[in-house]
Amino acid sequence: MGMVTISLAPLDRPTGDLLLLGCFAGEEPPMALLPDGVRAVVQELVRGGGWHGREGQHCEATMEREELPRVALEGLGKRDELDLGRLQSWLAKAVAQAARDEAQRVVLALPEHELTRGAAATGRIIRWLALAQYRFDRFRERDEDQREVREVELLLPDRGAEVAREMAAAQEVAAGIAFARDLANTPPNVATPEWMSDQAELLAAELGAECEVLATEDLERERMGGVLAVGAGSENPPRMVRLSWRGGDGPHVTLVGKGVTFDTGGISIKPSKDMDEMKYDKCGACTVLGLLRAAAKLRLPLRLEVFLPLVENMPDGRSYRPGDIVRCRNGKTVEVLNTDAEGRMILADAMAWAAESAPDYLLELSTLTGACVVALGQNGAGLYTPSDALAGDLADAAERAGERLWRMPLWPEFKESMKGTHADLRNVAGRWGGANAAAAFLSHFVGDVARWAHLDIAGPAYVGSDGEGSKGATGYGVALGVDWLRRLAPAF
Ligand code: BES
Ligand code: MN
Ligand code: ZN
Repeated sequence: MGMVTISLAPLDRPTGDLLLLGCFAGEEPPMALLPDGVRAVVQELVRGGGWHGREGQHCEATMEREELPRVALEGLGKRDELDLGRLQSWLAKAVAQAARDEAQRVVLALPEHELTRGAAATGRIIRWLALAQYRFDRFRERDEDQREVREVELLLPDRGAEVAREMAAAQEVAAGIAFARDLANTPPNVATPEWMSDQAELLAAELGAECEVLATEDLERERMGGVLAVGAGSENPPRMVRLSWRGGDGPHVTLVGKGVTFDTGGISIKPSKDMDEMKYDKCGACTVLGLLRAAAKLRLPLRLEVFLPLVENMPDGRSYRPGDIVRCRNGKTVEVLNTDAEGRMILADAMAWAAESAPDYLLELSTLTGACVVALGQNGAGLYTPSDALAGDLADAAERAGERLWRMPLWPEFKESMKGTHADLRNVAGRWGGANAAAAFLSHFVGDVARWAHLDIAGPAYVGSDGEGSKGATGYGVALGVDWLRRLAPAF
């Protein structure tokens, strides 16, 4: 499955198989940038009657033009009802319709609207178009005569340097998202911890990054007790990956991603319903790799480090158990009360290790708690950070990227609640505020790093059987992460 390539259409002679015009209900189609002859055809099509611009309405005509033989109007619905989700699914449907009509090159014009104009909006549209045909089909029979759109040329009024930059950046972000989705969608019988570390090594080689992989003996030497405990119950041994890449002298940013390749819950086993979805418990790690990839391809002038704790959480004779006391990388001991709270056990080691090199920023992403999904639903992540400035920057980045995020509390009561009976800490507390408790647990492992943030992405990381739209990993976090990094290191 190929990505759609996006470019600017030349205004004097837009060329393609199909001209696609997005139209609001009760308004003229966006014709300002069309050559005169084309405008006449569109006006005739509208005057012909029956055209309303209702959401989902479609109408088509042929034109006597070799370089642009067809035009299609696609209804966007009412102007004041357009929102991010509608625009994204409209773009996907419009591309799918064009593909069915055997168009490979599409020229696209959208009407003036706050969601279609300006750098951030343009970036989102390019990203959504680039990914409109994303499918994970590595494990399917090849479909020989599959129809696909290859290129979309945008008719944009604004053609300055900023748009050119957005065009390049958004397509690298899209490639990073596709990369993250491919990894995350890979089934758990293939995507073991070792497979994940192999993928990280391959990526590092491609990007010219340094890559260190710790296997069992290294983990023992480095005192990664959390990773070893959770990994103990699986035939697929655990790994810890550390990647370093340098694009310039900007800030030192460390990214940590939860990489549980499959989460059965371990001895505290999960119910079987939808357990298959726990292959997505590695989404944090996959997103962080997609983020590194995009940032490196854009040559952002900063220093990036990535830490990936990789385990499979299985029930077995060798599994860690409720009651066990485990010593983590920073020396703190944890009383295991529930083996299904495994994410925080492995993140404890990874974050403590990451904190040792005193980064300017530490951003951690994990499908950490079902409680966060209960609180926020599936459209946005929970943001935890002690820094108001960092919270603001991440919220702004998310807003521009079109990924939802909501700040959650790091109250001292939760940090206190994670103290153990016979160890320094325990891995679960009471029934309430489970996402906050998990975040508070992590706060015991950030050392002296002041600007750290935890994103609980359990909701938005994937669309499960009960979700809406196309199923699978979303790559959530790559777009907002790249936007945030671009502002930290302004050069792109
Ligand atoms: N991987 C899960 C969290 C999760 C749940 C992700 C649903 C995506 C969708 C995590 O390891 C987990 O099992 N968390 C427990 C914590 C509990 C034992 C304190 C949970 O959320 O139930
Ligand atoms: Mn779990
Ligand atoms: Zn988990």
